[in-house]
Amino acid sequence: MSQGAGDLLLLLAALLWAPGPSPTSSIHVYTQREVYGTVGSHVTLSCSFWSTEWISEDISITWHFQAEGSRDSTSIFHYAKGQPYIDDVGTFKERMEWVGNPHRKDGSIVIHNLDYTDNGTFTCDVKNPPDIVGKSSQVTLYVFEKVPTRYGVVLGSIIGGALLLVAVVVAIVYILRSCWLRRQATLQRRLSAMEKGKLQRSAKDASKRSRQAPVLYAMLDHSRSTKAASEKKAKGAPGESRKDKK
Ligand SMILES: *[C@@H]1O[C@H](CO)[C@@H](O)[C@H](O)[C@H]1NC(C)=O
Repeated sequence: MSQGAGDLLLLLAALLWAPGPSPTSSIHVYTQREVYGTVGSHVTLSCSFWSTEWISEDISITWHFQAEGSRDSTSIFHYAKGQPYIDDVGTFKERMEWVGNPHRKDGSIVIHNLDYTDNGTFTCDVKNPPDIVGKSSQVTLYVFEKVPTRYGVVLGSIIGGALLLVAVVVAIVYILRSCWLRRQATLQRRLSAMEKGKLQRSAKDASKRSRQAPVLYAMLDHSRSTKAASEKKAKGAPGESRKDKK
């Protein structure tokens, strides 16, 4: 809990004290302020830049690393004359990957297989001759032993909530569907019962049926049974049936 609050304060402080781009410089370099990683994972240290000049063949990008609590800063990566060079010193030489593209104003690198002791500040510096005046940008890396439990809890509740929502939607659809089916079935039963009753009555009282029939047939939304009924009727009383069909 206090870890999270501390991090938030740090972030706020970083935002408030971050030096803005100097108006006299013509090349601007941007990185994140802070990045977080867990032991064994990897992080991308993004670095982008903006230059008033066309990207020249002589563009150079340099990354420095200063370990937490150390005063020494060492060069760990260099891009010059169109080629990336990983410095053959320090702890990152085997774990570093160049992912940038100077023509897209991107000088990013990736640090693989993070270690607990990788905490420190990485500095990205770009020179685009003749555009060489400008400030470098720094990003601080924090490596945690494992994902803090709070992140796990938050992630868990988000996933749980999403699953619950899906379950509720499925249940609602299912209920609505079964209600509709039951309604259809009831309607069907009522209609066939009505039809049966009418036919029985029609057998007994032909004149009464002829008056009721149009009304009842209008209520029936079942053309097949209607047709069958009219055929039956046609056999019994041809005169009546002709009247119905009109
Ligand atoms: C690196 O930073 C994290 C976050 O501040 C801290 O928990 C961890 O102990 C640090 N690692 C070392 C080796 O100091």
